[in-house]
Amino acid sequence: MRKGLLEFHEYVKDLSTSDVVMQMDNFIQHGDITTLEHVLAVTYTTYILSKKMHADVRSAVRGAMLHDLYLYDWHIKDPATRPPLTHGFTHPAKAAENAQKYFEPTAKEVRIIRSHMWPLTVFHIPTSKEALIVTIADKYCAINETLGIYDDSAFRKKIKAYMVFIKKIKAQSNK
Ligand SMILES: [Fe+2]
Ligand SMILES: [Fe+2]
Repeated sequence: MRKGLLEFHEYVKDLSTSDVVMQMDNFIQHGDITTLEHVLAVTYTTYILSKKMHADVRSAVRGAMLHDLYLYDWHIKDPATRPPLTHGFTHPAKAAENAQKYFEPTAKEVRIIRSHMWPLTVFHIPTSKEALIVTIADKYCAINETLGIYDDSAFRKKIKAYMVFIKKIKAQSNK
């Protein structure tokens, strides 16, 4: 594993190797990209940006890691199990709720999760440099994923390598 990824791992390892975060690999975000892969792409982008911008790297990446922890597939067509049609507006609250249920995020990290869809969620304005970084990283990654720019990128290979790495750790801890 490359040095950059190992340093990144140090900030999030308890989260990225947890059962709850791993559950996000069962849900599709865009195309063939799972929510876990999207979240890791956003978190790594956040890591790079927050270092460059001399932000609080730890709060930023931990908030990013939990930003889409809503734990359902928003593409489901079955009305009985379908999430609300207002997914774009409601999922930050659900993600924040799950983050607090399963982990112990700081108040700042919770605000990062709540404001990541801003300006869609008008009343949840990013109130820190770190929250602003996550909302930008999320939009940047979502656009790259939707337009197919992410598909064959070197960045995706890096994210995939990290996914193999955490799954290996997980498999070993389950032995
Ligand atoms: Fe989101
Ligand atoms: Fe996202």
